[in-house]
Amino acid sequence: MSQPYILVLYYSRNGSTAKMARAMAEGIEKVSGVEARLRTVPAVSTVCEATEPAVPEEGAVYCTEDDLRNCAGLLLGSPTRFGNMAAPMKYFLDSTSGLWLSGSLIDKPAGTFTSTSSLHGGQETTLLTMAIPLLHHGMLWAGIPYSNPELNTTTDGGTPYGATHVSGTKGNSELSATEEHLCQEQGKRIAHLALKLQA
Ligand SMILES: Cc1cc2nc3c(=O)[nH]c(=O)nc-3n(C[C@H](O)[C@H](O)[C@H](O)COP(=O)(O)O)c2cc1C
Repeated sequence: MSQPYILVLYYSRNGSTAKMARAMAEGIEKVSGVEARLRTVPAVSTVCEATEPAVPEEGAVYCTEDDLRNCAGLLLGSPTRFGNMAAPMKYFLDSTSGLWLSGSLIDKPAGTFTSTSSLHGGQETTLLTMAIPLLHHGMLWAGIPYSNPELNTTTDGGTPYGATHVSGTKGNSELSATEEHLCQEQGKRIAHLALKLQA
């Protein structure tokens, strides 16, 4: 039987959320008995849906319904757009009614993560609202516990609701050591929870 995997499903236009997704995957891969599967979603366009190549030119490949159906846990990441998730991720989630009908995601652990350009630009609202569709799917949403002392001392990203990154006004700053660490910790936590729930 193949190893259970945590799906790290993200959208990223300029690379910040993608960096977080890779740090999440590093955390997951530190947990034995589970692996990370990185997947993305296509951009959406007001002109035509079929403008993207079938395989992205770089980064993770696009998520299929089976990738989501068969995951042991999920980490969902999106840039913040006006205090909420980006349209491509919402568009993808809106296509998952079949999984909702079959109950495929019930009792699986899930976490959310986001990147903003500004410190108070809506990280928590994005993380909380991204959880709503996952709760409709019956998933068990988990954040990051305060046993991670960085949550008390961070001066950039990192919240109890999930990992965050502040990408700055140019949108290109690297993850700080704290942000990267908390991404890894969130990845590890979902991996551990998935193994416990499967036991
Ligand atoms: C349409 C749009 C809306 C945005 N809204 C916000 C916002 O509400 N708060 C914020 O801090 N940054 C906002 N941003 C900036 C992005 O969240 C930020 O640059 C993020 O790091 C991009 O992630 P990515 O590099 O993964 O695409 C917005 C960007 C766009 C294009």
